Amino acid sequence: MSIADLVIPGEPAADIGSDHALLACYLVDEGRCPRAICGELGDGPYRRTLEAVRKYGLDHLIEVRQGDGLEVLDCGEVATVVLAGMGGYTIVSILNASPAKTQSFKRLVLQPMNALAEVRRLANSKGWKIEKETVVKDGDYYVNLVINPQCRQDNKLSETELRWGPILMQGAAQESVVRDYYRFQLDKLERIIAGIPNNSTGRSLMRKQEYERRKKELEEILQ
Ligand SMILES: C[S@@+](CC[C@H](N)C(=O)[O-])C[C@H]1O[C@@H](n2cnc3c(N)ncnc32)[C@H](O)[C@@H]1O
Repeated sequence: MSIADLVIPGEPAADIGSDHALLACYLVDEGRCPRAICGELGDGPYRRTLEAVRKYGLDHLIEVRQGDGLEVLDCGEVATVVLAGMGGYTIVSILNASPAKTQSFKRLVLQPMNALAEVRRLANSKGWKIEKETVVKDGDYYVNLVINPQCRQDNKLSETELRWGPILMQGAAQESVVRDYYRFQLDKLERIIAGIPNNSTGRSLMRKQEYERRKKELEEILQ
């Protein structure tokens, strides 16, 4: 399921960190969203977004704004906010800069390139409901998180759930792409563990033990 399929249909959306503006152009061109806002921080990507929107003749439907994270949006201005292709810590810092503003949107669609556990941890600590998690294989594996910041979820997730995804873990038995994603992560962990000598001590030993713990978690999920 692509990011576009996760956006609330029929309502405006914002793509923060839009760069080439492909998502926003697709959303309005296909009629999934009546209008969109692109947010970009850097001068280069901001200009790239403006040029792409003009090139596709969509500047009457897409507004391009320059600024840091959610500061380009007013509270509740759009239904869905997308943050994709960024590091997990950047996503956390953008959402955490103004939790009240974050909560004014109906849906967050997040595609962190790393540190997924930290993004889930933020959602869980704020009580925002993780409604859906999907895996897409497009060369690499990408995980999409759909969060409803207006729906409280008070149960605390375990470290295993934060790391591997509470919803993905439930789907592991049924969905082949999720199993493949976990197997890919397991292979990666096995390679890392093999690279740490057996006679390691101190920090190296602690790292090895941590990776072995994570490997065991994945083996149990995949059983
Ligand atoms: C790798 S691109 C991803 C582009 C697109 N979203 C995608 O998924 O293909 C990440 C973009 O996020 C932008 N970015 C990073 N931090 C940002 C912030 N705090 N506010 C707005 N944009 C940001 C960068 O300028 C960059 O263009």
